[in-house]
Amino acid sequence: MRSLLTPDGWAVLESLPTYDEGSAMALGERLRGQGHDPALVAAALTQSRLRLRARAKLGPFADAMLFTADGLEQATRLAVAAHHARRYVGAGCGRVADLGCGLGSDAMALAGLDREVLAVDADELTAALAAVNLRHWPDAVVRCADVTELDLAAELAPGDGVWLDPARRTGAAGSSRRTFDPEAFSPPYSFVLDVMRRVPATGAKLAPGIAHHLLPEGVEAQWVSVGGDVVECALWSGSLAREGVARSALLLDGVGTAHDLAGDPGLARAEVAPVGAFLHEPDGAVIRAGLVADVAASVGGRLIDPTIAYLSTDAPVGSPYLHSYVVDEVMPFHLKTLRTHLRDRGVGRLTIKKRGSAVDPDALRRQLRLTGDAEATIVLTRVAGRASVLVVRPA
Ligand SMILES: C[S@@+](CC[C@H](N)C(=O)[O-])C[C@H]1O[C@@H](n2cnc3c(N)ncnc32)[C@H](O)[C@@H]1O
Repeated sequence: MRSLLTPDGWAVLESLPTYDEGSAMALGERLRGQGHDPALVAAALTQSRLRLRARAKLGPFADAMLFTADGLEQATRLAVAAHHARRYVGAGCGRVADLGCGLGSDAMALAGLDREVLAVDADELTAALAAVNLRHWPDAVVRCADVTELDLAAELAPGDGVWLDPARRTGAAGSSRRTFDPEAFSPPYSFVLDVMRRVPATGAKLAPGIAHHLLPEGVEAQWVSVGGDVVECALWSGSLAREGVARSALLLDGVGTAHDLAGDPGLARAEVAPVGAFLHEPDGAVIRAGLVADVAASVGGRLIDPTIAYLSTDAPVGSPYLHSYVVDEVMPFHLKTLRTHLRDRGVGRLTIKKRGSAVDPDALRRQLRLTGDAEATIVLTRVAGRASVLVVRPA
């Protein structure tokens, strides 16, 4: 990998066409035949493959960056990093310390919005690659250091911001495993909280599944989804948090559209009522943020069960926070009744959605023994406490 940082290594990498699995072996042979070091050729081809994979997260920027497989997996998508960076612009932070910068995706977004950046990573190779990735921004400085040993009071000036995106993996690079214990994050969650107490403008990226009781008081916790997948919970403290906002959900569609819902989960409560003509499934970020009742209030929706995050209305509604379905049938969950219903309609292809049901969809599909050309979607859930099936179609 380090050989790629030499002029010869860089020249080989830059000469490669877009990675193609089918022609990679022949290309490697040709390069070795031209006298290039086999280790360098292997590193260049690996890099070229990672660049192609990275396009999904980083778009065309990926083609000019360097990656490790672990670093790429942990890198923030550029669309999300851009939202992080805008917080610091909004808060007036001219300089931001990215403590645990990885390959520099968040740091690039900050530098791209004209912030001065101090990007720090404890891993020597990762810091070297971050320096390459940030080479276009002279106001971005990369340092290899353990952030828990930094003297933050000396490093930061009043008004500077801090960004933390702790590694949620343990073990050696290449064989690391995901951890769900916040104290096993690197740097650990207690360090993140400590920095939040000491630096008024601190942002941090956490796993979306972080338990609400672990979130500190007085911060904005924002769950972010991209194309319906919940990718993170970002904490914003001090001037980075919005006034009066404890929880928020940011929905990105991956092509530039953003929907931002802010609220306080303690304030709104949705009413429960029988299933109407439409069923609505809130985006995962809305559910994690505890803002289902806020969305319900905005569309006049009711819960179909006090413990399940499905909403219902009598009339169609348009909300970016909901996936909506027309309800064709509501019935108690009985295998025989469901089988008869689907057989009578010639349903051979069935989409099974579920929430609040212990039924295994694959086992159910086998038991239903479906035949026919028609398609249908069913929702296995609870309606007013009772195991039920809703036959629906996209609204
Ligand atoms: C999740 S990654 C950061 C990804 C980055 N935000 C991006 O978008 O590319 C976390 C990084 O923190 C670094 N790290 C972990 N513990 C650290 C510590 N104590 N000091 C400095 N860096 C650390 C790891 O080496 C890893 O590169």
